[in-house]
Amino acid sequence: MTMTENATGAHIDLYEDHVWKHPTVVAGVPWKNPVGTASGTFQYAAVRWFYDVSQLGAVCTKGVSPVPWEGNPSPRTAEGPASNINAVGLQNPGVDHYLEDDLPKLKAIGATVIANVAGHSDDDYAQVVAKLADCAADMLEINVSCPNVTHGGMSVGTDPVALAKLIERLRPMTDKPMIVKLTPNVTDITVPARAAVEAGADALSLINTIVGMRIDVRTGKPVIANVTGGVSGPAVLPIGLARVWQVRTALPDIPIIGIGGIDSGEKALEYLYAGANAVEVGAAALFDPVAPLRVARELDDLLDERPELAARLAAGRTWR
Ligand SMILES: Cc1cc2nc3c(=O)[nH]c(=O)nc-3n(C[C@H](O)[C@H](O)[C@H](O)COP(=O)(O)O)c2cc1C
Repeated sequence: MTMTENATGAHIDLYEDHVWKHPTVVAGVPWKNPVGTASGTFQYAAVRWFYDVSQLGAVCTKGVSPVPWEGNPSPRTAEGPASNINAVGLQNPGVDHYLEDDLPKLKAIGATVIANVAGHSDDDYAQVVAKLADCAADMLEINVSCPNVTHGGMSVGTDPVALAKLIERLRPMTDKPMIVKLTPNVTDITVPARAAVEAGADALSLINTIVGMRIDVRTGKPVIANVTGGVSGPAVLPIGLARVWQVRTALPDIPIIGIGGIDSGEKALEYLYAGANAVEVGAAALFDPVAPLRVARELDDLLDERPELAARLAAGRTWR
């Protein structure tokens, strides 16, 4: 049995039946609750043994590319203070495998699914979106923020002109709500945020990981073969919150999914007060597989005491 405590110290049994009290709406898509998984930190085949993933607000799957990618050489991960550093390099079995395997399994159990799209070039992104255009996923998330690939990823997301060009190309290819996932590795995140929205993004998700590294003092060399990786986990919470606050201030109407360092209902609540419509839980699930569901259950109780915030989220609006 998996037990956890809510803010009042009462025990929550994650395996007992639960009727969600506080749904949210992101770009017109209803979520059972405001908590989803963050891309790359969730694998259905592994997690389904731990909990019913259809109970999450949404399941955001690992980035998929037009063909299978092997990712970067090992070592690809390191630990940092209150953080995790990864340079996986978007390893994935490709969009065809996703359409035949992961996606039908998730839809068969009734999950709300966000398909995360990866590419090394505009053509790569377009090929994946073309294949996902009429699939069963509920939303698409375009990852223009991965710091661990040399082409595409963050190199697109930090250039507002290139970003606008890409989203203008992708947006007409599908009727599905399109989320653009932004990188915090910029001076002013409102610049790419505005470029994405003006090019047709229906929602924004932020943040992806922050460039970082560790050095092995026995060798004097970087721990990660790729030299740098992306920092995630508790240490990035204040950064994610500030970015969500800044984007919400600049763009009052765009739906926002807050990401970064969330490992409890209270931290998810911080993102909702910063102006997010929903959140995604990432690195916390790497050491606690049930973390996304636990965060959702804790948040459900915390929203009981905040009826005005809960009512706004249920109507697709935000606190600020
Ligand atoms: C191992 C690992 C793999 C990731 N893979 C992806 C990915 O494929 N696509 C993506 O958009 N983000 C990816 N991310 C970024 C996370 O989705 C998230 O934005 C980031 O880790 C910050 O959230 P967190 O602090 O809760 O982990 C990955 C993160 C980790 C730790």
